[in-house]
Amino acid sequence: METEARSAARNQWSANPAGTNHAAAPEGTPEFYEQMTRSRYALQPWLPDLLRSWVPPGGRVLEIGCGAGTDHSVIAGIAGATAAIDLASHGAWLTQRRLELEGRPGTAQVADAEDMPFPDQSFDGVYSFGVLHHTDHPERAVAEMWRVMRPGATFMVALYHKHSMFAAQKAVEYVVRLRWRSQKWRDFLPELEYGAANLEQRPLVLLYSRRDARNLFSRFHDVRVRTEHPALRGHLLPDGLRRFGWYVVVTGRR
Ligand SMILES: C[S@@+](CC[C@H](N)C(=O)[O-])C[C@H]1O[C@@H](n2cnc3c(N)ncnc32)[C@H](O)[C@@H]1O
Repeated sequence: METEARSAARNQWSANPAGTNHAAAPEGTPEFYEQMTRSRYALQPWLPDLLRSWVPPGGRVLEIGCGAGTDHSVIAGIAGATAAIDLASHGAWLTQRRLELEGRPGTAQVADAEDMPFPDQSFDGVYSFGVLHHTDHPERAVAEMWRVMRPGATFMVALYHKHSMFAAQKAVEYVVRLRWRSQKWRDFLPELEYGAANLEQRPLVLLYSRRDARNLFSRFHDVRVRTEHPALRGHLLPDGLRRFGWYVVVTGRR
């Protein structure tokens, strides 16, 4: 179903698929993907090993909200089969193109996390990074995850962390720059998404505490929550501050 949040998400990430602003090479070329990979994992050095340690080797893995496909390429190198979805056709196209360039058999398509076009119990793993906090009913997306996962299948999901230094930085900016005079917090917060400040319709951005994140996945087993990416003013801070990182990473099993 089309809603304001979904049309805003489609507008935002059709215009600016996440990470593409870090690549100068022509879109869809091998150099373009290499530049995105390099910059993503230079900015988030903690991510590749965490992702590799999670992907079920040889399993069938779904990625929800694949964007330009950087993480999906890592997943496709380990999993036996992959599928990717994104609400924005630009992201689905970029991921499909990357799979083809790398000679991988997976498919990327346009679809909604809240209503996925897959049969029940068809995946051994589900991955989603920075996506479910942009959809109007994250709990419906999580129910869909449950539906398409086989019993025993695992997931890894990253959400924005409410009690992070980055969220605190945004709150300070909101107050000090007197933005509260002209904007609601929920309209200001989406400016953290690249290019969103220039759009009239901005994506929905929800923030999660560790407890909120755990509650969202309360139906699953072995749910573990960790925070990653302690960052402030664009700089990654020492790992000791991980507790206040920008991502809540949730793992668990159906
Ligand atoms: C911040 S980007 C993250 C993309 C990618 N996972 C990454 O980390 O680079 C959020 C992505 O989620 C997608 N998205 C938002 N709501 C969605 C929904 N309901 N169903 C599927 N994709 C969605 C957007 O189109 C966008 O590509």
